[in-house]
Amino acid sequence: MLWEYFIFGGVAFLMTGVRCEVTQVFAEAGSQAVLPCKCSPPSASAAAILWTKAHGGTVWRKQKSGMQYWGYGWANQGTPRIQCPYDEFGRGDYSLHITDVREDDGGDYICRVDDGNQRVLKVVTLRVITVSVSPSVAVPGGDVSISCDVTPWPMGATLRWRLNGNPFVPQNEIKEVSIPDGGVTKSVMEGKATERLTGVWTCVVHYQRKESLVTKRLSVKGIDDPSSDNTKVYAAVGSAVTLPCVFSPGLTPSNPVWERLSAGSLSPSTARSLPPSFSLSSQQPLDRSVSVGEVGSEDGGRYRCSGTVGGRRLSRSLQLVVAKIESNVRSVKKAPATLTCHLSDLSEVTEYEWVHVTYDLNGSESTRSVQKGNVLRIDKLAGDSSGELACRFYGKKGILGNVTYHVPLMSGLTGAKEAGLSDNTAMVIGLSFLLLVLLLVVAQMYRNHQRRKRIFQFPALETIVHTISNEREERERNRVKNEDSLV
Ligand SMILES: *[C@@H]1O[C@H](CO)[C@@H](O)[C@H](O)[C@H]1NC(C)=O
Ligand SMILES: *[C@@H]1O[C@H](CO)[C@@H](O)[C@H](O)[C@H]1NC(C)=O
Repeated sequence: MLWEYFIFGGVAFLMTGVRCEVTQVFAEAGSQAVLPCKCSPPSASAAAILWTKAHGGTVWRKQKSGMQYWGYGWANQGTPRIQCPYDEFGRGDYSLHITDVREDDGGDYICRVDDGNQRVLKVVTLRVITVSVSPSVAVPGGDVSISCDVTPWPMGATLRWRLNGNPFVPQNEIKEVSIPDGGVTKSVMEGKATERLTGVWTCVVHYQRKESLVTKRLSVKGIDDPSSDNTKVYAAVGSAVTLPCVFSPGLTPSNPVWERLSAGSLSPSTARSLPPSFSLSSQQPLDRSVSVGEVGSEDGGRYRCSGTVGGRRLSRSLQLVVAKIESNVRSVKKAPATLTCHLSDLSEVTEYEWVHVTYDLNGSESTRSVQKGNVLRIDKLAGDSSGELACRFYGKKGILGNVTYHVPLMSGLTGAKEAGLSDNTAMVIGLSFLLLVLLLVVAQMYRNHQRRKRIFQFPALETIVHTISNEREERERNRVKNEDSLV
């Protein structure tokens, strides 16, 4: 400040026809800063330009002849970090461009333009904002520090943080520690890396009703998938499933291990090895997912995947929830046939829905909701005898999965009652009919038998009857013969 007053005072005292103003320029470290210096109206002839830095001497100067000089330390390995674009001179613009701004570039700069008739002086204050995130790729639980620094610090400025565009309120995992550093205020946050801290950090410097923003990214790397502990994976018994465990790109996890945890315990001493049916599903070193072709009902439970990264053991636990349909369909006709949708863990399930799935000739499936609830009475289905049944289960965020009941059996079940009844009736009628016929036959046989018995009681009588009839026939024949001879 004192320096500025000195400059103005000195300049005003020494020069006549001087116009002077102070401009504030905020630039992010590493970026390009433009320190404005414009004269209007533009000078008619070539001007001599001199850029100086307070305490730093000449930065750059150009003589009327066109000769240029760079100040000591401003040429970066032969390539100057500063320049004044020539093509702007004609418009009276002698702005200084500084590339790859460094923290120690911050300070006051003076631009002096002489074109013979007038002398223009401008003072520009360059303030360099440095945001650092260290390390920029952190492992969960590792130390992390995020700081914002303005050089030189503008008196009266305020500094705030945003994370992914939202105002950031430090919580347990990270604390703001302001470091008074010889009058320069820094904002430093230190803590342990968590996924919550992942994203774009913005340091907002508010000064004289203007905001200057500088952003830096913090990634917290570890296990990308699953993204949180105790993730639930749903699978129907008999279906294939993959338990994910994917480390972040760029990491080299060592000693990766999968374990099965005992119910309700996270202690490693109770961990067992995976069921033998599970096997690694990828050859990628970062993808430690395991899969199984056919989930068994005993596979439900808690699992944990872990690996060592940078000396720190990272792990994710997840739960395999097994779904199956249990039926109480028995051979006894009258038992109510029900299907029950059964899950090995219900903590996320809010709703069940039974759907009837049918496939048309093209093989495309269509579904029809049958009912809500986890128990389905088969008689709800009367009329539908093809396709399959699926139990869908839902959580707060939507569908979690489904389990299908494959049913060539279903057609038998569908109308069990009705079909059973008509079968019985038919059988009863048939049997009765047979019985009736049998009775009739027996009755007839009995009558025949009785008749024969009666005849056999009188065999002589029968002979007599027979003889009598024979005699009658003989007589008749003789009578006919006699009549013929008479003629
Ligand atoms: C089968 O597909 C054809 C052509 O895509 C379509 O015209 C026809 O309606 C479909 N049939 C059924 C039963 O969906
Ligand atoms: C059941 O889940 C599988 C896999 O997510 C899906 O392809 C299928 O359409 C679902 N079936 C029903 C009836 O929701």
